[in-house]
Amino acid sequence: MGKINVLGFDVANLIAAGEVVDRPASVVKELLENSIDAEATSVTAEIQSGGVTLIRVTDNGCGMEPDDLPVAILRHATSKIKTARDLSEIGTLGFRGEALAAIASVSKMRIFSKPAANEMGTLLECEAGRVTSLSEVGCATGTTVVVEDLFYSVPARRKFLKRDATEAAAVSAVVERIALSRPDVEIKYISDGEVKFVTTGSGDLKEAVYSVFGRECANRSIRVERTDGGVTVTGFISEPDLYKSNRNMEVFFVNGRLVKSRTIMAAVEQAYRSRIPAEKFPVCVLNVDLNLSAVDVNVHPAKLEVKFSDEKVIFDSVYYAVLSALQSETVRPELKFAGTGADIPCEGSEPASFPPKKESKDDFWIDGEEARRLLNAFVPADTHRTKTEQVKIYDSPPPAKKEAPAPAPAVPEDGGEDRPAITDPGPIDPPEYIILGEAYNCYVIVQFEDRITFVDKHAAHERIIFDELCRNARSAEKNAQLLMTPIVLDVPAWEGETLRDYSDDVRSLGFEFTAKDEGNRTTVKVTAIPEQLDSAEARELFSTLVAKLSDTTASIDSAYAEFFESRLFQSACKAAIKGGRRYGIEHIKWICDRLFVKNPGGSVIRTCPHGRPVAFEIKRSSIDRQFGRLE
Ligand SMILES: Nc1ncnc2c1ncn2[C@@H]1O[C@H](COP(=O)(O)OP(=O)(O)OP(=O)(O)O)[C@@H](O)[C@H]1O
Ligand SMILES: [Mg+2]
Repeated sequence: MGKINVLGFDVANLIAAGEVVDRPASVVKELLENSIDAEATSVTAEIQSGGVTLIRVTDNGCGMEPDDLPVAILRHATSKIKTARDLSEIGTLGFRGEALAAIASVSKMRIFSKPAANEMGTLLECEAGRVTSLSEVGCATGTTVVVEDLFYSVPARRKFLKRDATEAAAVSAVVERIALSRPDVEIKYISDGEVKFVTTGSGDLKEAVYSVFGRECANRSIRVERTDGGVTVTGFISEPDLYKSNRNMEVFFVNGRLVKSRTIMAAVEQAYRSRIPAEKFPVCVLNVDLNLSAVDVNVHPAKLEVKFSDEKVIFDSVYYAVLSALQSETVRPELKFAGTGADIPCEGSEPASFPPKKESKDDFWIDGEEARRLLNAFVPADTHRTKTEQVKIYDSPPPAKKEAPAPAPAVPEDGGEDRPAITDPGPIDPPEYIILGEAYNCYVIVQFEDRITFVDKHAAHERIIFDELCRNARSAEKNAQLLMTPIVLDVPAWEGETLRDYSDDVRSLGFEFTAKDEGNRTTVKVTAIPEQLDSAEARELFSTLVAKLSDTTASIDSAYAEFFESRLFQSACKAAIKGGRRYGIEHIKWICDRLFVKNPGGSVIRTCPHGRPVAFEIKRSSIDRQFGRLE
């Protein structure tokens, strides 16, 4: 006896529906696309509880005739195409006749609809895909679709939905993108009674970007407009120093259809390469318009992907459109650092004790984010573009002038007599400088005779702590200070175990401690700390280090010493003073004194342990030149 069944209508529908709608966001996308296809000029999308309890999309489009409503929710029922030939030139967002059927089969749905010519509208109600009532109602011209209790008939699917807030975020992302795809349509988005945004519908994309992504993105965007080989690329991209850590704000449309396209994404990112740091992504809203027959939209169940007949043409069109926008006169000039296609020479030798092996010179030069921001504020636009040599990462201090060693900030005096002699680096011998102030509580501005240096105080402190602790660890004698009052930490027993495993290393930094187990906790008493840290910093460093060393999810793929060192530099970051916070001038001076002297190895501090620059400078001659005081 054969074992193959032909599935019943209901099951087949549910399976098909799963392909089209898998979460509230995909329902909202389909409904909005229907409204746009209906030539609405105003659409409101509203959700409650992430769209699980309610989705309502109201438009002022063409509406549906009473006879059409029960048909609209059938599978393969569409007004948008008729024949197979139509499939090769699809100009509407919908074409499968699947969406309403899919949504209807997994929810309780009501549709109110009225074409402009009719006096009365029609209300269709259905549950799990079956029509339960069809009646005449009074309603405005257009269509309102109300979807309640999504996936109530498919508990397995409902179980996989994320928290309401997560679903709501996915819905927002969809509404935002559709709003950006059609700035000529006024789109309002309401979640749990709160209006999240409304676009003007004026047709101006910049206004839509403003409504959806906010003022900064709108103000710092560059217009893209280029036609080449039958492909027109239009939209906005962000100025290069406005970038994001993920691709969430890279939005692409093909002939007005929201798509995910690796080709377009790669072309945009390639054009930005060397303009933004590695692993950072631009903000962009780009529409690629091309002949309908040159793109196949019928390749993805949710219509999210398309296939181009010639991917290379698309890549080139997008790449050159973005590149020329980036190079256009309206773009604020950017500093280019070596290693990112830049032209500033990298001078000087690498710091003796650093960088870790994975760093390269390139890493050092890559992140100019703060540098660029400051520079843009400092040097008038258009002036430093061709004169990048006037700003460079700090790499060689001016000639040193003898000065007494400055004390570490806030280090308790107690225990000083017990300190072993300082083995290294010897007395601090910083050059003469004046601290002019601090920008944004983050960047210290330091004046030397022949230059002004901007210092990222957090990055600098992080590097100093790390270097000095490494030096401690390598030296036979420790620069430690005894504490009058021990630091007491209560850590989980497994961290106590780790501490015992690494006790020699931790002691080599200048820490002294005892550890006592009590049940599943360990009490650690720290009685001496590295001289370079105050007790708050030492507490932070110690506890972070122990936690990092106990992190068993990290694979110990490097040599033991490297492993310890890598954990140490992660911890140095924690102990360092923070950008954005105020600290006393003595802290800042302590950092500057150490930053501006050469390391014992003869090199200077250039990067923080993560490879970011700690300082950059502008030569006085360059400033004089800007003001016309020097030729
Ligand atoms: N908001 C609306 N206003 C007017 N007509 C609509 C609206 N929504 C749906 N319709 C009609 O119902 C039909 C079925 O809609 P449905 O979304 O299921 O399919 P489609 O849009 O044709 O194709 P797809 O499945 O690709 O979305 C549409 O072709 C259209 O004629
Ligand atoms: Mg549709």
